[in-house]
Amino acid sequence: MRLLPMFSSPLTAALVAVFFFFLAVLLQRRGLPSSSFLRPSSDPMAARTFILWLHGLGDSGPANEPIRTFFSAPEFKLSKWSFPSAPHSSVSCNYGAVMPSWFDIYEIPVTSESPKNESDVLKAVQNVHAIAAKEVDNGVNPENIFVCGFSQGGALTLASVLLYPRTLGGGAVFSGWVSLNSSIIERISPEAKKTPILWSHGMADRTVLFEAGQAGPPFLEQVGMSCEFKAYPNVGHSITTEELLHLQSWIKARLKSSS
Ligand SMILES: *[C@@H]1O[C@H](CO)[C@@H](O)[C@H](O)[C@H]1NC(C)=O
Ligand SMILES: *[C@@H]1O[C@H](CO)[C@@H](O)[C@H](O)[C@H]1NC(C)=O
Repeated sequence: MRLLPMFSSPLTAALVAVFFFFLAVLLQRRGLPSSSFLRPSSDPMAARTFILWLHGLGDSGPANEPIRTFFSAPEFKLSKWSFPSAPHSSVSCNYGAVMPSWFDIYEIPVTSESPKNESDVLKAVQNVHAIAAKEVDNGVNPENIFVCGFSQGGALTLASVLLYPRTLGGGAVFSGWVSLNSSIIERISPEAKKTPILWSHGMADRTVLFEAGQAGPPFLEQVGMSCEFKAYPNVGHSITTEELLHLQSWIKARLKSSS
């Protein structure tokens, strides 16, 4: 079988070759992966890992994108990241001010006893599940999907991985809290209970009290899950480089080799 049967003359073939050369150069310049254009989607180079980052109250997805620069290990070269922004909504603890918020919060500081609006959280969870399900449809192994989030995004991370119908690669909660009532426990599937959880919290946090974070492991124990709980002395309501580097090795240790 001839490679280029439709080209009648060598000149036509040469022109076509030149055209594709410039197309490849153009795609490269625009930062588009020319390889994904030229290869089928079953390409082993396609993203096998999906990392979703959920930001905190009043923040935005793009503002958090620099987080990925901490993930310099070669395993993350082909990871796909997503930094969605929360919808603008009225926030009770801020006197009804409208800002990017995944669900309503009634008081700051958040404590383990703060009131919750579970139905509001569950609406946000559905949006996270839709993002994850889309990646699964695209061929990503759910066990290579990692949901991570800070503060309100951390609380949403926990709720999302617990209520996802399948085992995920992991859920990483930074300075978050339990935003679900214990009545939700019966809705957590045996598959979801296998999802590993990493919980990190600064001990000097005055926005989401360390005590609210500490309520995480006992709640998970009630669910029948355990978690790795990391307490960071002298860290307030923020994420440190140390925490992100630990997240990198935590995810790396859980990556599955095949999709
Ligand atoms: C969850 O707890 C809150 C109090 O924090 C309560 O107002 C709400 O009714 C509870 N929801 C469910 C479904 O149990
Ligand atoms: C809880 O959230 C639901 C749905 O987002 C909303 O309709 C309801 O008014 C909220 N309840 C309270 C007590 O704020």
